[in-house]
Amino acid sequence: MSDRFLVQPSGPLHGAVRAGGAKNSALKLMAACLLAEGRHVLQGVPHIVDVDIMADMLRALGAVVYRRPAPGGGGDELVVETPARLSPEAPYELVDKMRASIVVLGPLLARCGQARIAMPGGDDFGQRPIDMHLSGLHAMGARFETSHGTVDGEVAATSPGAPGARGRLRGSRIVLEYPSHTVTDNLLMAAVLAEGTTVVENAAREPEVVDLAQFLQSMGARIDGAGTSRVQVEGVEILRPAVHRVVADRVVVATLIAAVGLAGGDVLVEDARPEHMDMLLRKVGEMGVEVTPGPSGLRAEAKGRLRSVDVATLPYPGVATDYKPFLVTMLAVADGVGIVTENLFSGRFRYIDELRRMGADIRTEGHHAVVRGVPRLSGAPVRATDLRAGATLVLAGLVAEGDTVVSDAHHVDRGYDDLAGVLASLGARVERI
Ligand code: EPU
Repeated sequence: MSDRFLVQPSGPLHGAVRAGGAKNSALKLMAACLLAEGRHVLQGVPHIVDVDIMADMLRALGAVVYRRPAPGGGGDELVVETPARLSPEAPYELVDKMRASIVVLGPLLARCGQARIAMPGGDDFGQRPIDMHLSGLHAMGARFETSHGTVDGEVAATSPGAPGARGRLRGSRIVLEYPSHTVTDNLLMAAVLAEGTTVVENAAREPEVVDLAQFLQSMGARIDGAGTSRVQVEGVEILRPAVHRVVADRVVVATLIAAVGLAGGDVLVEDARPEHMDMLLRKVGEMGVEVTPGPSGLRAEAKGRLRSVDVATLPYPGVATDYKPFLVTMLAVADGVGIVTENLFSGRFRYIDELRRMGADIRTEGHHAVVRGVPRLSGAPVRATDLRAGATLVLAGLVAEGDTVVSDAHHVDRGYDDLAGVLASLGARVERI
C-alpha cells in the first residue's frame, strides 16, 4: 500500500460510521487467549497492523490464529486456538515492532512458569520503561534477569522434583507507583492463574481494562473491582476458552469528533460509548462541538469557528494523552489561546513541528504547549511521527489551504482501519496516493 495520504480542504462532513473495536483492548484480549487451552473467539477485532503483529506473536508462541466470517454476516471474527503447551519465547523481531507485546509476559509466566522477551520498542515518545511490569510480577514470585536486551523471567517451581513441574505465580498486594494501563493488564492476566489473592492498588481504570477483566471473567477468572483503582483477583487452577466482543475504540471516536469539529458537519458514530469519554466530550463541548449521546453511539455536530480551551492529559477518567494531538489541531484553528499540558509521555509533542510547518502558531515549553489559533492552516508536505500524530496531520489537512501530503502513513495503519476511507465516506477529500 502507498505510504502517503493526500488531504484537501473539506467539509462539512455528513453520514454515519462505526469506530470498530479498540486496538488497546484487542491486543490485550489476544494475549489473554494464551491463558486457556482451546478455541477463543474475539468479535470486532479491528483490521490494523498492530493486531497483525500480535497475531504473529501468538503464532510464534504456538497458537493458531485466523479470521473467519462472523455468523449472521457483518464482518469477521478472530479465532485464537491455544495449545496445551506454549513456547515461552517472544521473538525479538515482533517485540521490536510493537511495545504492547510486553503483555504476553504475564500470560506466559502464568502458563509456562517462564518467559523470555526482548525489551519492547514501539512508538518513540519519551522514556517508556517496563520497570513496573517487572516489579509487579516479581512481587508475585517471578525472578528476572536482563542481558543483551532480553528479559528472562522464571517462577520457581513449588515442587521442583516433580517431572514437568512449572512454577506457579502467587498472589500478592501490589501498589502501582502510577496507574499504568498495560501494567494493570499484565498483572491481571498473571493473577488469574496465580495461587491465592492478588490486589492491585492504584490500578488503571480505563474501559479497556474493564473489557479485559470481562473477557477473563467469561474464561472463569474471579476478578472484583475492575474499573476502580483497587482490583482484586482470586487465582484459579485453570481457565476455559471464551467468546467476547471488543469494546469500541474511544480514540477512533475522538478522531471522528475532531474531524467534525474541524471540518464542520453532522456525523453519527454508531457504536461509540460516550460514557467512556466524559472529560473529552466536556472539552470539545466547550470548544463548540455539540455531542449528543444516543441509545447506541453518539452524534457530533459543529458549525462555525471553534473556541479555545486549556487541556491537561491525565490517566483515565481524565483527558487521555491519545486525544491530545486532536485537541492541539483543533486549538490550532480555534478562536483564542489554549494551553495544553502533557502529564504522561514527555516526548509526545513532535507532531507540533509538523503542524507549525502548516502555519500553526504553537510554542512548546517543557510539557506545555501554548496554542494560538489561526483562521486557517496551509497545506504542506508533513511526516507522521507516530500513530496519533499521523492521524492528526490528516485532520489538519481538512482545514488547510491547498494540498497536505502526509508521509509515513504506515504509522496510521497501526491503529486505524482505513482512516482515509472512513473520512472519505463522510465527504472528506482524503485519499491514499
Ligand atoms: N511507565 C513506567 N514503567 C512501566 C510502564 C509504564 O514508567 O513499567 C510509564 C510510561 O513511561 C509512561 C506512563 O507510565 O510515562 C504511562 O504508561 P502506561 O503504561 O499507562 O501506558 P501504556 O500502557 O504503555 C497505553 C496505550 C497507549 C496510551 C497509554 C495511556 C496500549 C497498548 N497503549 O500505553 O496507547 O497512550 O496507555 O493511556 O494500551 C496508542 O494507542 O497510540 C498508545 C500509545
